[in-house]
Amino acid sequence: MVSSDGQLEGPYELSDVALQIAESIESSSAGLYVIVTHYDADGLAAASIIARSLMKIERPFVVRVVDQIDEETLTSLPKGDYYVFVDLGSSAVRAIADKGLLPASVIDHHEPLRSSEVVGKELRELNPHIFGLNGGRDVSASGLAYFVSKGMKVLDHEIAYLAIAGAIGDRQESAQGFVGLNKLIAQEAIERGWVRRFTGLRLYGVPRYPLVKSLMYTVDPLLPGLTYDEAASERFLESLGITLKKSNGPLTTYKDLSVDEISKLATALIKHLLMKGFSPQSANALFGFIYEFLYEPEDSPLRYAHEFAQTLNACGRLRKHGLGLAIGLGDRKEALSQVEAISLEYRRRLTQYLSLLRSDPSYIRVLNNVQVMDMRNVVDERILGAVASIAVSSYMCDASKPLISLAHSIKGKVKVSARMHEALSKRGINLGFIIKTAAEEVGGSGGGHENAAGAIIPSESLNTFIKTVDLLVGKSLKAGARS
Ligand code: C5P
Repeated sequence: MVSSDGQLEGPYELSDVALQIAESIESSSAGLYVIVTHYDADGLAAASIIARSLMKIERPFVVRVVDQIDEETLTSLPKGDYYVFVDLGSSAVRAIADKGLLPASVIDHHEPLRSSEVVGKELRELNPHIFGLNGGRDVSASGLAYFVSKGMKVLDHEIAYLAIAGAIGDRQESAQGFVGLNKLIAQEAIERGWVRRFTGLRLYGVPRYPLVKSLMYTVDPLLPGLTYDEAASERFLESLGITLKKSNGPLTTYKDLSVDEISKLATALIKHLLMKGFSPQSANALFGFIYEFLYEPEDSPLRYAHEFAQTLNACGRLRKHGLGLAIGLGDRKEALSQVEAISLEYRRRLTQYLSLLRSDPSYIRVLNNVQVMDMRNVVDERILGAVASIAVSSYMCDASKPLISLAHSIKGKVKVSARMHEALSKRGINLGFIIKTAAEEVGGSGGGHENAAGAIIPSESLNTFIKTVDLLVGKSLKAGARS
Protein backbone atom coordinates (compact mmCIF):
# COMPACT_ATOMS: atom_id res chain seq x y z
CA MET A 1 0.00 0.00 0.00
CA VAL A 2 3.02 2.33 0.11
CA SER A 3 4.64 2.82 -3.31
CA SER A 4 8.37 2.95 -4.01
CA ASP A 5 8.35 6.75 -3.75
CA GLY A 6 6.71 6.51 -0.34
CA GLN A 7 3.19 7.56 -1.36
CA LEU A 8 0.20 5.86 0.23
CA GLU A 9 -1.59 3.80 -2.40
CA GLY A 10 -4.44 2.28 -0.48
CA PRO A 11 -7.03 1.84 0.77
CA TYR A 12 -7.63 3.96 -2.30
CA GLU A 13 -10.47 6.12 -1.06
CA LEU A 14 -8.56 7.03 2.10
CA SER A 15 -5.45 7.99 0.17
CA ASP A 16 -7.60 10.01 -2.26
CA VAL A 17 -9.06 12.04 0.58
CA ALA A 18 -5.61 12.51 2.16
CA LEU A 19 -4.42 13.86 -1.18
CA GLN A 20 -7.46 16.12 -1.57
CA ILE A 21 -6.83 17.59 1.87
CA ALA A 22 -3.16 18.10 1.02
CA GLU A 23 -4.11 19.92 -2.18
CA SER A 24 -6.80 21.96 -0.44
CA ILE A 25 -4.36 23.11 2.28
CA GLU A 26 -1.65 23.88 -0.26
CA SER A 27 -3.83 25.67 -2.79
CA SER A 28 -5.59 27.86 -0.22
CA SER A 29 -4.52 31.48 -0.10
CA ALA A 30 -5.46 31.68 3.58
CA GLY A 31 -3.83 34.50 5.50
CA LEU A 32 -3.95 32.46 8.70
CA TYR A 33 -4.38 28.72 9.23
CA VAL A 34 -5.83 27.66 12.58
CA ILE A 35 -4.80 24.17 13.68
CA VAL A 36 -7.02 22.81 16.46
CA THR A 37 -5.88 19.72 18.30
CA HIS A 38 -6.26 17.57 21.40
CA TYR A 39 -3.70 17.83 24.24
CA ASP A 40 -2.53 14.21 24.28
CA ALA A 41 0.56 12.74 22.59
CA ASP A 42 -1.29 11.83 19.40
CA GLY A 43 -2.90 15.27 19.16
CA LEU A 44 0.39 17.10 19.71
CA ALA A 45 2.24 14.85 17.23
CA ALA A 46 -0.48 15.21 14.58
CA ALA A 47 -0.63 19.01 14.96
CA SER A 48 3.17 19.13 14.72
CA ILE A 49 3.12 17.25 11.40
CA ILE A 50 0.57 19.65 9.90
CA ALA A 51 2.37 22.68 11.35
CA ARG A 52 5.70 21.51 9.94
CA SER A 53 4.10 21.05 6.52
CA LEU A 54 2.70 24.59 6.69
CA MET A 55 6.09 25.95 7.74
CA LYS A 56 7.63 24.31 4.68
CA ILE A 57 5.25 26.15 2.37
CA GLU A 58 5.70 29.33 4.39
CA ARG A 59 2.11 29.75 5.58
CA PRO A 60 1.26 31.50 8.86
CA PHE A 61 -0.57 29.39 11.40
CA VAL A 62 -1.60 29.22 15.02
CA VAL A 63 -2.17 26.05 17.01
CA ARG A 64 -4.97 25.85 19.57
CA VAL A 65 -4.70 22.90 21.98
CA VAL A 66 -8.05 21.98 23.54
CA ASP A 67 -9.54 19.45 25.97
CA GLN A 68 -12.36 18.45 23.67
CA ILE A 69 -14.46 19.79 20.84
CA ASP A 70 -17.75 21.30 21.90
CA GLU A 71 -19.84 24.42 21.40
CA GLU A 72 -17.69 26.44 23.78
CA THR A 73 -14.41 25.39 22.19
CA LEU A 74 -15.63 26.16 18.69
CA THR A 75 -16.86 29.59 19.74
CA SER A 76 -13.55 30.45 21.39
CA LEU A 77 -11.31 29.63 18.40
CA PRO A 78 -9.22 32.42 16.94
CA LYS A 79 -10.47 33.83 13.65
CA GLY A 80 -8.68 32.24 10.73
CA ASP A 81 -9.03 31.71 7.00
CA TYR A 82 -8.57 27.94 7.01
CA TYR A 83 -9.17 25.51 9.88
CA VAL A 84 -7.41 22.18 10.29
CA PHE A 85 -8.90 20.02 13.05
CA VAL A 86 -6.64 17.14 14.04
CA ASP A 87 -7.34 14.27 16.46
CA LEU A 88 -10.83 15.68 16.92
CA GLY A 89 -13.62 17.20 14.87
CA SER A 90 -15.39 14.19 13.37
CA SER A 91 -18.06 14.32 16.05
CA ALA A 92 -18.62 18.00 15.32
CA VAL A 93 -18.57 18.46 11.53
CA ARG A 94 -22.11 19.83 11.59
CA ALA A 95 -21.24 22.36 14.32
CA ILE A 96 -18.03 23.35 12.51
CA ALA A 97 -20.03 24.08 9.36
CA ASP A 98 -22.84 25.83 11.27
CA LYS A 99 -20.31 28.10 12.99
CA GLY A 100 -18.84 29.00 9.61
CA LEU A 101 -15.38 27.73 10.50
CA LEU A 102 -14.70 27.15 6.83
CA PRO A 103 -12.90 26.10 4.75
CA ALA A 104 -11.88 23.31 7.06
CA SER A 105 -10.22 19.91 6.99
CA VAL A 106 -10.96 17.41 9.73
CA ILE A 107 -8.23 14.79 10.25
CA ASP A 108 -9.60 12.56 12.98
CA HIS A 109 -9.56 8.88 13.93
CA HIS A 110 -12.41 8.85 16.44
CA GLU A 111 -15.65 7.19 15.47
CA PRO A 112 -17.77 9.82 13.68
CA LEU A 113 -20.97 8.53 15.42
CA ARG A 114 -23.32 10.85 13.53
CA SER A 115 -26.10 10.57 11.02
CA SER A 116 -25.98 13.72 8.93
CA GLU A 117 -23.29 14.47 6.38
CA VAL A 118 -22.06 17.97 5.69
CA VAL A 119 -18.78 17.01 4.14
CA GLY A 120 -17.97 18.61 0.80
CA LYS A 121 -15.51 20.94 -0.86
CA GLU A 122 -15.54 23.46 1.98
CA LEU A 123 -15.29 20.84 4.70
CA ARG A 124 -13.20 17.76 4.03
CA GLU A 125 -12.87 14.86 6.42
CA LEU A 126 -10.24 12.16 6.68
CA ASN A 127 -11.40 9.47 9.08
CA PRO A 128 -10.44 5.77 8.89
CA HIS A 129 -13.89 4.60 10.11
CA ILE A 130 -15.47 6.00 6.95
CA PHE A 131 -13.26 3.60 4.97
CA GLY A 132 -13.92 0.54 7.10
CA LEU A 133 -10.74 0.87 9.17
CA ASN A 134 -10.55 0.97 12.95
CA GLY A 135 -9.33 4.32 14.27
CA GLY A 136 -8.50 2.79 17.65
CA ARG A 137 -6.03 0.33 16.20
CA ASP A 138 -5.24 0.79 12.51
CA VAL A 139 -4.16 4.42 12.41
CA SER A 140 -3.88 7.40 14.76
CA ALA A 141 -4.47 11.07 13.99
CA SER A 142 -0.69 11.44 13.60
CA GLY A 143 -0.68 8.63 11.03
CA LEU A 144 -3.45 10.37 9.08
CA ALA A 145 -1.63 13.71 9.30
CA TYR A 146 1.47 11.94 8.05
CA PHE A 147 -0.40 10.76 4.95
CA VAL A 148 -1.70 14.30 4.33
CA SER A 149 1.82 15.63 4.71
CA LYS A 150 3.10 13.00 2.27
CA GLY A 151 0.47 14.26 -0.18
CA MET A 152 1.95 17.74 0.12
CA LYS A 153 5.38 16.33 -0.77
CA VAL A 154 7.17 19.07 1.11
CA LEU A 155 8.58 17.27 4.14
CA ASP A 156 11.31 14.74 4.53
CA HIS A 157 9.32 11.71 5.41
CA GLU A 158 11.49 10.61 8.26
CA ILE A 159 8.90 12.56 10.26
CA ALA A 160 7.20 9.16 10.26
CA TYR A 161 8.65 9.02 13.77
CA LEU A 162 5.95 11.47 14.89
CA ALA A 163 3.27 9.17 13.43
CA ILE A 164 4.78 6.22 15.31
CA ALA A 165 5.03 8.17 18.58
CA GLY A 166 1.43 9.38 18.21
CA ALA A 167 0.11 5.86 17.65
CA ILE A 168 2.07 4.54 20.64
CA GLY A 169 0.81 7.45 22.76
CA ASP A 170 -2.73 6.36 21.87
CA ARG A 171 -1.88 2.73 22.80
CA GLN A 172 -2.55 1.48 19.29
CA GLU A 173 0.28 -1.05 19.42
CA SER A 174 -0.62 -4.43 20.91
CA ALA A 175 1.67 -7.23 22.09
CA GLN A 176 1.82 -8.43 18.48
CA GLY A 177 2.92 -5.01 17.23
CA PHE A 178 1.16 -2.58 14.92
CA VAL A 179 -1.60 -3.50 12.48
CA GLY A 180 -3.25 -1.67 9.57
CA LEU A 181 -1.82 1.60 8.36
CA ASN A 182 0.32 1.90 11.50
CA LYS A 183 2.09 -1.26 10.43
CA LEU A 184 2.75 0.23 6.99
CA ILE A 185 4.13 3.43 8.47
CA ALA A 186 6.42 1.51 10.82
CA GLN A 187 7.54 -0.87 8.06
CA GLU A 188 8.37 2.01 5.75
CA ALA A 189 10.29 3.83 8.49
CA ILE A 190 12.27 0.68 9.29
CA GLU A 191 13.00 -0.15 5.65
CA ARG A 192 14.19 3.38 4.96
CA GLY A 193 16.52 3.33 7.93
CA TRP A 194 14.73 6.04 9.94
CA VAL A 195 13.73 3.71 12.74
CA ARG A 196 15.14 0.49 14.24
CA ARG A 197 12.82 -2.04 15.88
CA PHE A 198 13.87 -4.64 18.40
CA THR A 199 12.35 -6.54 21.30
CA GLY A 200 13.29 -5.60 24.83
CA LEU A 201 12.35 -4.60 28.36
CA ARG A 202 10.23 -1.46 28.38
CA LEU A 203 11.71 0.26 31.39
CA TYR A 204 11.79 4.04 31.48
CA GLY A 205 14.88 5.73 30.14
CA VAL A 206 16.56 2.52 28.94
CA PRO A 207 19.39 2.53 27.96
CA ARG A 208 20.52 6.04 28.80
CA TYR A 209 19.47 6.12 32.47
CA PRO A 210 21.27 4.29 35.28
CA LEU A 211 19.38 1.03 35.78
CA VAL A 212 18.24 2.01 39.28
CA LYS A 213 16.58 5.15 37.87
CA SER A 214 15.00 3.17 35.03
CA LEU A 215 13.34 0.88 37.58
CA MET A 216 12.16 3.66 39.84
CA TYR A 217 10.74 5.81 37.04
CA THR A 218 8.78 3.03 35.28
CA VAL A 219 5.09 3.72 35.73
CA ASP A 220 3.53 1.90 32.81
CA PRO A 221 3.13 -0.74 34.07
CA LEU A 222 3.59 0.40 37.64
CA LEU A 223 6.23 -1.63 39.49
CA PRO A 224 4.73 -1.61 43.00
CA GLY A 225 7.35 -1.31 45.71
CA LEU A 226 9.97 -0.21 43.18
CA THR A 227 8.46 2.74 41.33
CA TYR A 228 9.67 5.93 42.99
CA ASP A 229 11.58 4.03 45.69
CA GLU A 230 15.29 4.31 44.96
CA ALA A 231 16.48 2.26 47.95
CA ALA A 232 14.05 -0.59 47.10
CA SER A 233 15.13 -0.50 43.44
CA GLU A 234 18.77 -0.72 44.51
CA ARG A 235 18.06 -3.66 46.81
CA PHE A 236 16.12 -5.37 44.02
CA LEU A 237 19.07 -5.15 41.62
CA GLU A 238 21.60 -6.16 44.26
CA SER A 239 19.52 -9.22 45.14
CA LEU A 240 20.00 -10.33 41.53
CA GLY A 241 23.76 -9.91 41.76
CA ILE A 242 23.66 -6.87 39.45
CA THR A 243 26.21 -4.33 40.60
CA LEU A 244 24.93 -0.77 40.81
CA LYS A 245 28.19 0.78 39.68
CA LYS A 246 30.62 -0.25 36.98
CA SER A 247 34.14 -1.06 38.14
CA ASN A 248 35.41 2.23 36.63
CA GLY A 249 32.91 4.38 38.58
CA PRO A 250 29.73 5.33 36.63
CA LEU A 251 26.37 3.80 37.46
CA THR A 252 25.34 0.66 35.58
CA THR A 253 22.93 1.13 32.68
CA TYR A 254 20.87 -1.45 30.78
CA LYS A 255 23.55 -1.43 28.06
CA ASP A 256 26.14 -2.69 30.54
CA LEU A 257 24.16 -5.84 31.33
CA SER A 258 25.14 -9.23 29.94
CA VAL A 259 22.48 -11.33 28.18
CA ASP A 260 22.37 -13.48 31.30
CA GLU A 261 21.77 -10.46 33.56
CA ILE A 262 19.00 -9.13 31.28
CA SER A 263 17.23 -12.46 31.41
CA LYS A 264 17.65 -12.60 35.22
CA LEU A 265 16.24 -9.08 35.54
CA ALA A 266 13.30 -9.85 33.26
CA THR A 267 12.40 -13.03 35.15
CA ALA A 268 12.71 -11.29 38.52
CA LEU A 269 10.48 -8.40 37.40
CA ILE A 270 7.79 -10.78 36.20
CA LYS A 271 7.95 -12.71 39.49
CA HIS A 272 7.79 -9.42 41.39
CA LEU A 273 4.66 -8.30 39.53
CA LEU A 274 2.97 -11.69 39.92
CA MET A 275 3.72 -11.71 43.65
CA LYS A 276 2.17 -8.25 43.94
CA GLY A 277 -1.04 -9.65 42.48
CA PHE A 278 -0.59 -8.50 38.88
CA SER A 279 -1.89 -10.71 36.10
CA PRO A 280 0.52 -12.50 33.73
CA GLN A 281 -0.76 -10.23 30.90
CA SER A 282 0.25 -7.06 32.70
CA ALA A 283 3.63 -8.52 33.61
CA ASN A 284 4.11 -9.29 29.93
CA ALA A 285 3.45 -5.65 29.06
CA LEU A 286 7.00 -5.02 30.27
CA PHE A 287 8.27 -6.65 27.09
CA GLY A 288 7.62 -5.76 23.54
CA PHE A 289 8.83 -3.99 20.46
CA ILE A 290 10.98 -0.97 21.05
CA TYR A 291 11.17 1.59 18.25
CA GLU A 292 14.42 3.51 18.12
CA PHE A 293 14.40 6.84 16.28
CA LEU A 294 17.75 6.83 14.57
CA TYR A 295 17.77 10.57 13.81
CA GLU A 296 17.66 11.47 17.51
CA PRO A 297 20.92 11.54 19.50
CA GLU A 298 21.59 8.30 21.40
CA ASP A 299 21.44 9.97 24.80
CA SER A 300 18.20 11.85 24.08
CA PRO A 301 14.90 11.16 25.89
CA LEU A 302 13.39 11.31 22.41
CA ARG A 303 15.43 8.41 20.98
CA TYR A 304 12.82 5.74 21.83
CA ALA A 305 9.17 5.87 20.74
CA HIS A 306 7.61 5.01 24.11
CA GLU A 307 9.62 7.65 25.91
CA PHE A 308 8.96 10.17 23.14
CA ALA A 309 5.22 9.54 23.41
CA GLN A 310 5.31 9.74 27.21
CA THR A 311 7.20 13.02 26.96
CA LEU A 312 4.52 14.51 24.71
CA ASN A 313 1.83 13.13 27.01
CA ALA A 314 3.55 14.64 30.05
CA CYS A 315 3.69 18.05 28.35
CA GLY A 316 0.04 17.95 27.27
CA ARG A 317 -1.35 16.56 30.49
CA LEU A 318 0.65 18.97 32.71
CA ARG A 319 -0.62 21.83 30.53
CA LYS A 320 2.77 22.52 28.98
CA HIS A 321 1.50 21.75 25.52
CA GLY A 322 3.56 24.58 24.00
CA LEU A 323 6.63 22.63 25.02
CA GLY A 324 5.20 19.44 23.52
CA LEU A 325 4.55 21.24 20.25
CA ALA A 326 8.06 22.67 20.25
CA ILE A 327 9.40 19.11 20.54
CA GLY A 328 7.09 17.99 17.72
CA LEU A 329 8.27 20.91 15.60
CA GLY A 330 11.86 19.78 16.05
CA ASP A 331 13.20 22.08 18.77
CA ARG A 332 16.06 20.17 20.33
CA LYS A 333 17.61 23.06 22.31
CA GLU A 334 15.44 25.11 24.65
CA ALA A 335 12.48 22.73 24.71
CA LEU A 336 14.53 19.60 25.18
CA SER A 337 16.32 21.09 28.17
CA GLN A 338 12.96 21.53 29.91
CA VAL A 339 11.08 18.34 29.11
CA GLU A 340 13.02 15.99 31.36
CA ALA A 341 11.76 17.79 34.48
CA ILE A 342 8.19 17.78 33.13
CA SER A 343 8.41 14.10 32.36
CA LEU A 344 9.63 13.25 35.86
CA GLU A 345 6.92 15.38 37.47
CA TYR A 346 4.31 13.58 35.35
CA ARG A 347 5.66 10.20 36.46
CA ARG A 348 5.69 11.30 40.09
CA ARG A 349 2.03 12.28 39.87
CA LEU A 350 1.01 9.09 38.08
CA THR A 351 2.80 7.01 40.71
CA GLN A 352 1.10 8.93 43.49
CA TYR A 353 -2.37 8.38 42.01
CA LEU A 354 -1.80 4.74 41.10
CA SER A 355 -0.34 3.94 44.54
CA LEU A 356 -3.37 5.52 46.14
CA LEU A 357 -5.60 3.39 43.98
CA ARG A 358 -3.73 0.23 44.95
CA SER A 359 -3.78 0.99 48.65
CA ASP A 360 -7.39 2.10 48.91
CA PRO A 361 -9.98 -0.12 47.19
CA SER A 362 -12.76 2.32 48.10
CA TYR A 363 -11.87 4.46 45.07
CA ILE A 364 -13.51 1.80 42.87
CA ARG A 365 -17.20 0.95 43.14
CA VAL A 366 -18.43 -2.07 41.24
CA LEU A 367 -21.87 -1.87 39.62
CA ASN A 368 -23.78 -4.49 37.60
CA ASN A 369 -21.95 -3.96 34.33
CA VAL A 370 -19.28 -1.32 34.93
CA GLN A 371 -16.92 -0.20 37.69
CA VAL A 372 -16.63 3.44 38.71
CA MET A 373 -13.29 4.92 39.79
CA ASP A 374 -14.12 8.14 41.60
CA MET A 375 -11.01 10.31 41.87
CA ARG A 376 -12.83 13.63 41.81
CA ASN A 377 -10.92 15.13 44.72
CA VAL A 378 -7.59 13.66 43.75
CA VAL A 379 -6.67 13.63 40.07
CA ASP A 380 -6.36 16.51 37.63
CA GLU A 381 -8.83 16.04 34.79
CA ARG A 382 -6.09 15.96 32.15
CA ILE A 383 -4.24 13.15 33.94
CA LEU A 384 -7.36 11.07 34.62
CA GLY A 385 -7.27 9.32 31.22
CA ALA A 386 -3.66 8.23 31.72
CA VAL A 387 -4.40 6.88 35.23
CA ALA A 388 -7.44 4.98 33.91
CA SER A 389 -5.42 3.55 30.99
CA ILE A 390 -2.66 2.25 33.29
CA ALA A 391 -5.16 0.94 35.86
CA VAL A 392 -6.84 -1.10 33.12
CA SER A 393 -3.75 -2.20 31.21
CA SER A 394 -1.97 -3.10 34.47
CA TYR A 395 -5.02 -5.16 35.54
CA MET A 396 -5.37 -3.09 38.72
CA CYS A 397 -9.15 -3.46 38.49
CA ASP A 398 -11.68 -6.04 37.32
CA ALA A 399 -10.81 -6.88 33.69
CA SER A 400 -14.33 -8.08 32.95
CA LYS A 401 -16.02 -4.67 33.29
CA PRO A 402 -15.37 -1.28 31.68
CA LEU A 403 -13.79 1.26 34.02
CA ILE A 404 -15.59 4.60 34.21
CA SER A 405 -13.29 7.10 35.94
CA LEU A 406 -14.17 10.55 37.24
CA ALA A 407 -12.36 13.81 38.01
CA HIS A 408 -13.55 17.34 38.68
CA SER A 409 -13.59 19.57 35.63
CA ILE A 410 -14.09 23.32 35.48
CA LYS A 411 -17.39 25.18 35.87
CA GLY A 412 -19.06 22.54 38.04
CA LYS A 413 -18.61 19.76 35.53
CA VAL A 414 -17.23 16.25 35.77
CA LYS A 415 -14.59 14.80 33.46
CA VAL A 416 -15.19 11.15 32.56
CA SER A 417 -12.57 8.80 31.14
CA ALA A 418 -13.72 5.31 30.25
CA ARG A 419 -11.39 2.43 29.40
CA MET A 420 -11.72 -1.32 28.91
CA HIS A 421 -9.83 -4.33 27.60
CA GLU A 422 -10.12 -5.14 23.92
CA ALA A 423 -11.81 -8.48 24.69
CA LEU A 424 -14.91 -6.56 25.82
CA SER A 425 -15.35 -4.92 22.42
CA LYS A 426 -15.60 -8.44 20.99
CA ARG A 427 -18.54 -8.95 23.38
CA GLY A 428 -20.38 -6.06 21.78
CA ILE A 429 -19.44 -3.02 23.88
CA ASN A 430 -18.54 0.22 22.11
CA LEU A 431 -17.50 2.73 24.78
CA GLY A 432 -17.29 5.63 22.31
CA PHE A 433 -20.94 5.19 21.41
CA ILE A 434 -22.14 4.50 24.96
CA ILE A 435 -20.29 7.42 26.57
CA LYS A 436 -21.41 9.83 23.84
CA THR A 437 -25.05 8.72 24.13
CA ALA A 438 -25.13 8.85 27.94
CA ALA A 439 -23.31 12.21 28.04
CA GLU A 440 -25.61 13.84 25.51
CA GLU A 441 -28.67 12.56 27.36
CA VAL A 442 -27.64 14.63 30.40
CA GLY A 443 -26.58 17.70 28.44
CA GLY A 444 -22.86 16.88 28.27
CA SER A 445 -20.68 15.84 25.36
CA GLY A 446 -18.49 12.83 24.78
CA GLY A 447 -17.10 10.33 22.33
CA GLY A 448 -14.01 8.32 21.51
CA HIS A 449 -13.11 4.79 20.46
CA GLU A 450 -14.46 1.31 21.18
CA ASN A 451 -12.04 0.81 24.11
CA ALA A 452 -11.29 4.37 25.23
CA ALA A 453 -13.73 7.23 25.47
CA GLY A 454 -14.20 10.47 27.35
CA ALA A 455 -16.88 12.99 28.24
CA ILE A 456 -17.62 16.13 30.18
CA ILE A 457 -20.96 16.20 31.97
CA PRO A 458 -22.77 18.45 34.46
CA SER A 459 -22.03 17.37 38.07
CA GLU A 460 -25.68 17.25 39.07
CA SER A 461 -26.34 14.61 36.39
CA LEU A 462 -23.55 12.28 37.42
CA ASN A 463 -25.77 9.59 38.94
CA THR A 464 -28.10 9.54 35.95
CA PHE A 465 -25.12 9.38 33.60
CA ILE A 466 -23.57 6.42 35.43
CA LYS A 467 -26.91 4.58 35.56
CA THR A 468 -27.35 5.08 31.81
CA VAL A 469 -23.81 3.87 31.05
CA ASP A 470 -24.33 0.80 33.25
CA LEU A 471 -27.62 0.10 31.48
CA LEU A 472 -26.22 0.58 27.97
CA VAL A 473 -23.24 -1.66 28.71
CA GLY A 474 -25.67 -4.31 29.99
CA LYS A 475 -27.78 -3.99 26.83
CA SER A 476 -24.70 -4.26 24.61
CA LEU A 477 -23.57 -7.40 26.44
CA LYS A 478 -27.00 -8.99 26.01
CA ALA A 479 -27.11 -8.07 22.32
CA GLY A 480 -23.51 -9.25 21.88
CA ALA A 481 -24.31 -12.59 23.52
CA ARG A 482 -27.29 -13.12 21.17
CA SER A 483 -25.39 -12.32 17.96
O1 C5P B 1 -10.28 12.13 27.65
P1 C5P B 1 -9.89 10.71 27.51
O2 C5P B 1 -8.41 10.49 27.46
O3 C5P B 1 -10.53 9.81 28.48
O4 C5P B 1 -10.48 10.29 26.07
C1 C5P B 1 -10.36 9.01 25.55
C2 C5P B 1 -10.50 9.07 24.04
O5 C5P B 1 -11.78 9.58 23.70
C3 C5P B 1 -9.47 10.01 23.41
O6 C5P B 1 -9.05 9.45 22.19
C4 C5P B 1 -10.27 11.28 23.21
O7 C5P B 1 -9.77 12.02 22.14
C5 C5P B 1 -11.66 10.74 22.91
N1 C5P B 1 -12.71 11.69 23.25
C6 C5P B 1 -13.63 12.09 22.27
N2 C5P B 1 -14.63 12.99 22.57
C7 C5P B 1 -14.74 13.50 23.81
C8 C5P B 1 -13.82 13.12 24.82
C9 C5P B 1 -12.81 12.20 24.51
O8 C5P B 1 -13.54 11.63 21.13
N3 C5P B 1 -15.70 14.36 24.05
